[in-house]
Amino acid sequence: MKYRRLGKTDLLISRIGLGCSNMNPFERTKSEEVIKCALDLGINFFDTANSYQAGLNEKLLGRILHPHWEKIIISTKLGYASSLAGKAMNRILNMCGKDNHARPDSAFIIRELERSLRHLKVDHIDLLQIHNPIVTKEMFDEMADLMESLIRQGKVRYYGVSFLDLGDFLLSLPFKYFCAQIPLNSGNSSEYLKQEYGVKRKEIGIIARQPFVTLRKEATQCGNVAPDIYRRALKEVLVMDSVDSVIMGTSNTNHLKANVQSVEA
Ligand SMILES: NC(=O)c1ccc[n+]([C@@H]2O[C@H](COP(=O)([O-])OP(=O)(O)OC[C@H]3O[C@@H](n4cnc5c(N)ncnc54)[C@H](OP(=O)(O)O)[C@@H]3O)[C@@H](O)[C@H]2O)c1
Repeated sequence: MKYRRLGKTDLLISRIGLGCSNMNPFERTKSEEVIKCALDLGINFFDTANSYQAGLNEKLLGRILHPHWEKIIISTKLGYASSLAGKAMNRILNMCGKDNHARPDSAFIIRELERSLRHLKVDHIDLLQIHNPIVTKEMFDEMADLMESLIRQGKVRYYGVSFLDLGDFLLSLPFKYFCAQIPLNSGNSSEYLKQEYGVKRKEIGIIARQPFVTLRKEATQCGNVAPDIYRRALKEVLVMDSVDSVIMGTSNTNHLKANVQSVEA
């Protein structure tokens, strides 16, 4: 496994990270197998959020990853309500095509952070990301002040932003943060590459996510999924100079091994 420094941080993360959103908290053994396999393959970067399964996802990772904290980097996201009611409201907004951006304030983040620390069984978060925030100067200024204070308190090492889409990320470039998580795949890579020079000048870390979305959709439409589609999708994103790591989701250890091997070949 290859590793890269995430932007200007001192976090050395594996070029493939594991997105844990789809792990089923009620299938602990299966999740343990996937995580153990990831660790054996050299993956040290794990991504979750307070809102995934209303906090149960963080709890699951806390239980499984607890013995490995010293050698891994955990990133969680805060922004959306983590309660079932909050999640239901978000889903309804989404289904009705309403604006689904998060609008957290400092009090909300402070409260949710304590909950995430408890769930993950840690005393600090390596990388805390604001989850799908609305991109306004007020939001980014408030979050930057808050995050600097959480860093001083030792509760957070670095902060970033996980963007709802590429457009939001490009809109946010004037603002301050250490790294960005963006959906990046063949569907939007040409738009991203046009802006890559500006991204590199800013020296922010880039975590690409959901590498398979577009190719999978295309393959499903033509009725067959070529065996090398996942390898191509990962390579397409990792070849970009500014991308430090790609996080992908899987609940299948064979898929995980194949994906890692394909980028190392
Ligand atoms: N706004 C946000 O912040 C946001 C939004 C979405 C996602 N995320 C993050 O991004 C992570 C990844 O997202 P994602 O899981 O939706 O997208 P993804 O990684 O592009 O796709 C995952 C899907 O690809 C399949 N897959 C992977 N490798 C495969 C292979 N070799 N052969 C066949 N199928 C394969 C998986 O199925 P199997 O389980 O069968 O392998 C799974 O259904 C999430 O876990 C989360 O951490 C963040």
